This record gives sequence, C-alpha cells and structure tokens, in this order.
Amino acid sequence: MKKSTISIDKHFIVGDIDKRIYGSFIEHLGRAVYEGIYQPGSPFADEQGMRKDVIKLIRKLNVPIVRYPGGNFTSGYHWEDGVGPKNERPEKLDLAWSVIETNQFGLNEFMDWSKKANTSTMMAVNLGTRGVEDAKNIVEYCNVKGGSYYSELRKKHGYEQPHDIKLWCLGNEMDGPWQMGHKKASEYGRLAAESGRIMKMVDPSIELVACGSSFLDMDTFGTWEDTVLSECYDEADYLSLHQYYGNRDNNTAEFLANTVAMDRFISSVISICDAVKAKKRKSKSIQLSFDEWNVWYHSNEQDQKLERWCKVPHQLEDIYNFEDALLVGGMMITMLRHADRVKVACLAQLVNVIAPIMTSDTGAWMQTIFYPFALISNYGRGTVLNTIVETPVYESKHGGAPYLDSVCVMNEENETLTIFAVNKDLVDSMEITCDLRQFKDYRMKEHIVLTHSDLKAVNTEEHPENVAPIIIENERIEGGIMQMVLCEKSFHVIRLGK
Ligand code: AHR
Repeated sequence: MKKSTISIDKHFIVGDIDKRIYGSFIEHLGRAVYEGIYQPGSPFADEQGMRKDVIKLIRKLNVPIVRYPGGNFTSGYHWEDGVGPKNERPEKLDLAWSVIETNQFGLNEFMDWSKKANTSTMMAVNLGTRGVEDAKNIVEYCNVKGGSYYSELRKKHGYEQPHDIKLWCLGNEMDGPWQMGHKKASEYGRLAAESGRIMKMVDPSIELVACGSSFLDMDTFGTWEDTVLSECYDEADYLSLHQYYGNRDNNTAEFLANTVAMDRFISSVISICDAVKAKKRKSKSIQLSFDEWNVWYHSNEQDQKLERWCKVPHQLEDIYNFEDALLVGGMMITMLRHADRVKVACLAQLVNVIAPIMTSDTGAWMQTIFYPFALISNYGRGTVLNTIVETPVYESKHGGAPYLDSVCVMNEENETLTIFAVNKDLVDSMEITCDLRQFKDYRMKEHIVLTHSDLKAVNTEEHPENVAPIIIENERIEGGIMQMVLCEKSFHVIRLGK
C-alpha cells in the first residue's frame, strides 16, 4: 500500500472560492438546446417548452452560472434572429457546426430558462463575423432599463425588466483557425479593447472576459495571451482558458496525469497576466476564466460521419466512463488549488453535448462525470487551504504525476473541512495520514467514494447509477490525527465538521 500525508494549517490560505468556478455551458450545438433544455411537446416540458426533468438534475449540480450561446456558434450568430415573434424568426446556416439553426430558442428564452434552473448568465458576443456595433447593441438590449431603441425593443418582446447580465465574453477562441472571423492576436486585442470599452460605456457594471488560447498546445500560446492583454488590459477583467482531454492511446495513467498539464497551463497563464501587469505598471490583476473544460474524444469519429445541414443532430454525444469521472474530479481539484486566480470555470457542456446530463424522449439521466461535479460543486464552498501533500509520483509525459490529487476546503461559517481527493494509482490503495489538531472536536461527517472495478464502465438511461458514489467508513481519528485508506482508482469526498 502506498502512503501519503496531508498537512493542513487553517492560516495558510490560497483564497476564497468564487462560486462561479462551478459554472457550465450551453451552446447552440447538437441537442444541447433543442431536445436538451428545450423540447416543446415533450411530456417533460413545462408551458414554455423547458424540460423540467433536466432542470431538476441541473439544480442538483448547483450550477451558479451558464455560458451561452457558444462556443464556435457565437462567431457567426446574429442574436436578433432569436428574439421577437417565433414565427418571424429566420432559419439560418450555422457554419460552425454545419447545421440549420431554427432560432426558435434565443436570448430571452435562455434568460427565462436560467431563472428556472437557478443560475445566472455569462453571455458571449460575436467578435468573429461582427464587431463593436453588435456588441454595443446586445448590451443595450439586455441591460438598459428603457428609453433607447434596443431597450424598448426588449420591452416590445415582452421583457419589461432588463436582464442585467453581468459577465460577458469578448468572442470565442479567436486564436483558432477553425473560428469564423479568426484573427491575429493584435487584431483581436484591438477589437476586444474597443468592443469592451463601448460595452462598458453602455453598462459600466459589467465584467469582460477576453479570449486566451483555445488550448495549451496552440502554436501561438503565450504570445497570444501577451499580445491580446497588451492591447486590452484596461477593458478586460478575465482571460479565458479552454482545455479538453482524451484517452486516445488508451493509457489511463497518462490520461489521469493530464492534471499536471492543466496545473502548468493555469500557472503559465497567471505568469503572463502578471508579466503584462508589470510591464504596464498596473495595480489591477487579470483573473482567469477557465470557461471550457472537460473530457472530449469519444464522439469524434462518429461526428465525422454527420450529414451537413440537418437540424438537431446527435453531435458531440460522448458517453463517459469511470476513468473520465476520475479525470473530471482531478481537473476540478486542480482549478480549486488556484482559487485565488481562477474565478470562473465552465464545464463544457451541460446537456447532451459532452455533458453530465443526457436526455431521451423517455427521460433524463446522469453520466459518470455528473457525480464528481455535483459533489464538489455542492460541498466545495468556502476557502481553499494551502496544504502540503507528500505523495509518491509516477513518470508521465508531463513529468512527475502525483498519485494523490487533493485539495482541502475550509468553511468557517458552517464549521466544516472538506477534502477532495483522487487516488490515481490503478492497482494500489493509499493510506492517508492527516493532521487535524487545529480542528478540535471535528469528526467525520461523511466519506463519499466514487469507484468501480472497470475503468471503462459507463452509465446508461437504464442504469444511471452503474457508476455512482457510495458512503464508506474506514477512518480513525486519534489525538487529532486522521488515518484512512483510499482504495485504488477512486475519487473521494471526506467531509469533516463539528
Ligand atoms: O464545446 C465545444 C466547442 O469546443 C466550442 O464550441 C468551442 O469553443 C470549442 O472548441
């Protein structure tokens, strides 16, 4: 059995967790909107066509913010097509995903849906095929009370009160050659600065996310961030990061070691943000918005076979297995360890499209990745502590990968201490020793484990709990020292409190 120690000191603090780190994402893509959150005529739909069974599951995930309407879709989108009388809305080509967009669901429906799902909105503007003017107009439509063309148009559409959207993305993945209206870093940086300046003239209370790199291995990574921020440092509040992983070589140890790469990605982006801050002699720090992250690869081959210009195809419908759930848990732990700078993050995506929730005509069900997300989102509220973790490492292409990924969250108000951990060892269990002497009278409230004998085990509509958490008891707390065993290949939530 391997051994690890976690040293916890309540005075060593990384930072308070911004709840928006538990955000997610709905794009007009595949069956995310249509047949996902919206399906008029379904026995599960409410009077507006919103799927109540899906909303119920989203509420379990406790998602405080959802990014919309894309993704790549944003870069060709005309938001005006999706507002006003439904019978007057045009059907259009969506060049991002080679499908027909019917526009029967748009901005106002999304805002109604958000209220029902108990979430707020992170809205993306099109800086691909459009620009400053459109960015100005959509903020006016959403956030101005009245007395101007677009705010009055919103009222005419039945929305008397402004939507008051606080967080906006300045385009999507503008570094990517696949993106409609793809730009050089300097071109995008200027456009982001001017769009952002004018959006903030309309509503100074909004916050803006500038596009960082689409993933760490982009050739332009680094210089992109530096150049973009050099242009729009004053207007931007956040810089985005996107990253998806896949186990294409069927090497689980390497797959799980991607948390090392993710950690390095975050640290590198922080360094670049701070280098630009220093060069510009600014006091403001740019925060990080990891607004697309997940596992994405299972559906790639299938998606190559899709016919162009159909409506609502099954697209990006990854069926997740147990090892994916382990990595999702590890990715969340990695972001939490940077809670001082990662303020927003969006699991991409939420329903049907690379998603924790799937729908069919007979119901909605939970994929394996649903569980680590729900557990961390629900129990990971408070302050991240800077723990010292001593654990064995294994060699991976990203360098030494710790067998134990963990983070510790203290919530002084609720008098709780929660440890999230992944034992990446595929064969050996791990004995954990943890000094709790500063947390007098704390006892074990619950030890939740997600594990399975088969790394490739999946959930299905018929068996949505094939891979699901269980509660165990195997800890010993004596003289403030806690000892417990984490079985091989497992995700843990260790909840302590008074
Ligand atoms: O989430 C799927 C796609 O991945 C998004 O549209 C895009 O931004 C990213 O490349």
